Formats: sequence, structure tokens, C-alpha cells
Amino acid sequence: MTVADVRTRFLDFYAKRGHAIIPSAPIVPENDPTTLFTSSGMQPLVPYLMGAEHPEGARLANSQMSFRAEDIEEVGDNRHTTFFEMLGNWSLGDYFKQEQLPWIFEFLTNKEEGLGLDPEKLYVTVFGGDAESGMTTDTEAVEIWKKIFNEKGIEAKFVELGTEERGNEVGMQGGRIFAYGAKKNWWSRAGVPSKMPAGEIGGPDSEVFYDFGLPHDPAFGPECHPNCDCGRFIEIGNSVFMQFIKQEDGSFKELPKRNVDFGGGLERLTAATRDNPDVFLTDIFDAARAVLESRSSQTYRNQIPITRSFRIILDHMRAATFMLASGIKPGNSEQGYILRRLIRRSIREADKLGIKEAVLAEVAESFGAAYVGQYPFVQAASAIIREELEKEEAQFRKTLANGLREFEKHVGFTKPYIEAEAVFDLYTTYGFPLEMTEEMARERGLSVDTEAVQKLMDEHQVKSRAGAAQKFAGGLADQSEQTVRYHTAHHLLLKALQQVLGPEVHQRGSNITAERLRIDFNYGQKMTDEQKAEVEKIVNEKIAEALPVIRTVMPRAEAEKLNAEHEFGANYPEQVTVYSIGPASATESDPKFTEAFSIEFCGGPHASSTSELGRFKIKKEEASSAGIRRIKAVLE
Ligand code: ALA
Repeated sequence: MTVADVRTRFLDFYAKRGHAIIPSAPIVPENDPTTLFTSSGMQPLVPYLMGAEHPEGARLANSQMSFRAEDIEEVGDNRHTTFFEMLGNWSLGDYFKQEQLPWIFEFLTNKEEGLGLDPEKLYVTVFGGDAESGMTTDTEAVEIWKKIFNEKGIEAKFVELGTEERGNEVGMQGGRIFAYGAKKNWWSRAGVPSKMPAGEIGGPDSEVFYDFGLPHDPAFGPECHPNCDCGRFIEIGNSVFMQFIKQEDGSFKELPKRNVDFGGGLERLTAATRDNPDVFLTDIFDAARAVLESRSSQTYRNQIPITRSFRIILDHMRAATFMLASGIKPGNSEQGYILRRLIRRSIREADKLGIKEAVLAEVAESFGAAYVGQYPFVQAASAIIREELEKEEAQFRKTLANGLREFEKHVGFTKPYIEAEAVFDLYTTYGFPLEMTEEMARERGLSVDTEAVQKLMDEHQVKSRAGAAQKFAGGLADQSEQTVRYHTAHHLLLKALQQVLGPEVHQRGSNITAERLRIDFNYGQKMTDEQKAEVEKIVNEKIAEALPVIRTVMPRAEAEKLNAEHEFGANYPEQVTVYSIGPASATESDPKFTEAFSIEFCGGPHASSTSELGRFKIKKEEASSAGIRRIKAVLE
């Protein structure tokens, strides 16, 4: 089947079962400053999974454009991509396990309505419990799966493996249904239950794997099992039973409604219909592959280093094409930096393939054409995509050869590392993204002291991955309690600055780590010592008042009427999340916005009370650029 066949069949299958087909949300989330990209189908639906009513009803399905920056370095094998489409179906408090598992099996195996996959090739996993959070094995899912397989005449033995490591030791044991712990069979945007911040939703899940029948690669352990990474089994779908919300005290409460959140990688499902695990051989990549083959005089299936270069370019350029079509421009921070990294990495791989002249715009064009049926906005943006890629490629190709020569000078035979100064220099002089140089070093078996590199970047105030690194993984990459406190302190600080310096002061940039917060804001001169002391005093007073921090989802127009602080020029959706701080008597059901100290559009997460913050102190106030000041502050 083609990618379009699989997408259409999925949407038709669920439409027939009462699901409203909703459009894909943009790949850059519209109301969530904590995350750079939409990385799963559920992400734009979080408010509804938490209980808000969805205008289209309680049964939804779609194909969601998704991007996972944290997978950039995984790309190169036959199944990892950064950009992909996630087929999804949702029950918002409607059906649950008893319907979801038989339906998804039906979709995967039915020849007329579904994909017609051989049931013998499907293996499933369920949640095997988690001692830390006191959750037990999902025996209900085990029973449902047994029945499903039995009806097909397949005996379905249940095996508790617990961990991947154990699986690699003991192997399949004739099993069909396997239980693993939270690391594999619990889903939340933050990962396992203990990693979830208060307010985050999640639940046990059940995955389906397709057996491509390849021989086990013992490099991954003596035995194979569904979650083995050797490539024999590939996960093609995940049904999350989204039913819990994490509490402040670390316990889990049932959500008002039990939901289903299913996600399946469209390209992987298509690969399964072809019984070939290489997602880069699905039709969506055909034209782009042909461009690269003709320009490099290499064939895709030549040998591993070459195939790997092909895959990196195919993946990265598809992602870059969608990003450019979505309005992102290559740059040095946030989404723009990720895009630049994808482009520059592709240029290096093209160079390795022997393509010495500009090629990216041509590759991008083939993706516009391949997606014209489903995503016409990509082809509609072809002029701008071409222009940006030609510019970026010409610029980087000018320095690439010199940079590579410079790199070689630092690769000695006597030392097992490359100096931080060299990495920094390759970035500033030749435009080599840090990660690219790190990767080049790794390819030579050399290490890089990334902290020392970052220190040089900070000292020279060079922006690169700042912001980006923290916002991977659905915005929840760093949700340590300290980081969450800094988020809340950030809101207090902005409001205090407005009270002391004037209401026209707004945020122009921010960066939060577990050690400190940083805010850039518009203000024409250096702050006086008195002003700084006054700002500190206000923030510490609000901390001492132990004000509640309240999250509310509301229509954008309503939030604007409340004068909630928001990013100028940002494109917010109809429903937005706002966080308000105070008054002391505010509650979730009665937030008392008119008496609040601060109200901001924000995706969170936040402390639940300002009393959790500790003592606030401004460490530094300095110029950031013309008309922009920067404060670094800590909580002690
Ligand atoms: N949200 C689930 C996932 O991304 C379906 O795997």
C-alpha cells in the first residue's frame, strides 16, 4: 500500500465507527510556549483528555504531523524519523479497552477495510505494573488480547518479561502477549509515572509489534523479544488508556473520564503492509530518493554508510520542507536552530555522497509533490522553500570544505578528544552546528567536552541550542521541581518589573534551567539599585503570601479580555491555557481573575503555590541588545 492508502483506510475505518475526522494541528504548537514542536497526536488534545468538551464530540480520529527533535541522532536506521505522521483515534470518556483493542486489531488485519496484515505476525505488549507508583499488571488487556487471538485460531501465551534487559536474556518463550514495566508500557509526555509533574496525564498502554521475520542480531543480547532493538520487531501502534492525572503528593487520581489515546506511525504501518521494515522505501520517499540517486550516482541499497547518508537526507529534508512550509526560518534559536541543524546536517551527508552542488531545493520539491493530496500547503509554499534552502545551502557550502579541513587539523592521533575551543571555533567561523561537530568527532572515536563548549558559548553570549535543548520531548524534557519553581518565579518577576518600570515592559526572551532563570525585556536604560531592590521585594512579598497558582483553559478572546500577558505576534488557537497567581482565596472553580496578581498565557507547568519558591534574588541586570535588558535571578 501507499502512505496515502493507509491514511485513508484508517480515517475511513474510524469514521465508520462514529469518529469525527479532525485536521492535523500545525507542527509548531499554537498555544504552548513550553514546547517547540507537536510530537504526538495527543498533544493538541490535552485539554480535552483532561475533561474539556471537544466541539466535534467524544470520538475523534486524525493523522497528525509530528516532529521529534530528540530522535535526530537516531535517524539512519531503517525505522527512525524525526518527522512522521501519527495516525490517531481518541475516545474522550466514551469507549475504552473492550472496544479499542478489538478495533485496532480489526483495522490491522482486515483485508477489506483495514491493512490486511497477517495476524500471525502481530505481537502485543501490555503494562506489567510499577512498584514505585503501586500500579498493577493490566490483566484486563491481557484477557482481551487472548480472546482476540484465540478467535483467529492463534494460541496466545502470556509472558511477563518486566524489562527489556530480561527479555534479552530469556527471549520469547513462545509468548504472544508480553508484559513490560512502566518504562515500556506507560505513556505520558514526561515518561514513567515518577517523572510526571503534578497535573500531567498518563496511563498504561498496550503496543502492537509487527514481526518482520529478520534474524535476531545478537549485538542486542542473546535473545529476541518484541521490545528488542535489533530490528526484527517494529512497534506499529500504541493504545494508551489515558485515565490518570498526577497529584501534588505524587499519587494518581482518576481523570473525570477514562480516555483512549491511540497513536500509530503512518510510515511504519505502511512498511508493515509491504512486509519490508525500511520506512524510507515507502512511496512518499520515492521521488526524493531518485533525485539523490541521480545526483550522487549511488544507489540507495548500496552499502550501510551510503544508505545511512541517504536516510538522513530523506528524513531531514522532509522535516525541513514541512517546517519551512509552516513558516519557520533557519536561525540560531528555538525552531529555527533545529531547522538549520537539519539543513546543514543534510548538506554534509550530501557532500559525503559526492553531491558537490546545491541539491536540497530539488529534494524539497519532490516532497511538496508527494504530499499535495493531503498537505497542499507544502507545495503552495514551494517558492519560499526554494528560496530559503538555496540561500542556506549556498551559505553553508561556502564554509563546509574549509570547516572540514579545519576539523581535520584537530584530529590528532595522540589525543582521544577534540578541544572545546575547536568545536566553538567551527561553530562561530564555519557555522558547524555543535551537534554536527560532536557527531563528526564521535565518528572518529573522539570525545567532546560539551560542558566546556557550552561555557564558551555562554561566555561569548552565542545563541545556539539555548532554549531548544530544553524544549524537546513535548516540552517536558526538564520538569524538575526546581525548574517548575523558576517558571512560576518568572511570572512573578515579569509582573513586578511592570509595576516598577512601567506597564509597557514585556518579555522579549526567556531561558530557564534548574539553576536560574533569565528574562529579556524591553527597557531603555540600566535599572537602578533601588528599582532592583523594589522588584525583589515585590516578588518575595508574593512568595510570602503563599498565593495559589491556578491553571484555566478558556477561549482566547476571553483571555485577551482579561489582559493576560502574552507573546506579541504569537498565533494562539481558539482555546488557550492561562496561569493566574493569587488572590489567596482563588480556587480552580473560582479563579477570581480581577484580583489576580499575574495572569499569563502559558502552557505550564507551575508550582501550585508561590510558597514553594523559596527566596528570590536578582543576580545580574545587564544589557542584552539595543533597548533590551536581561536579568538573571535565582531562588535560594
Ligand atoms: N500518545 C501515544 C504515543 O505517542 C499514542 O505513543
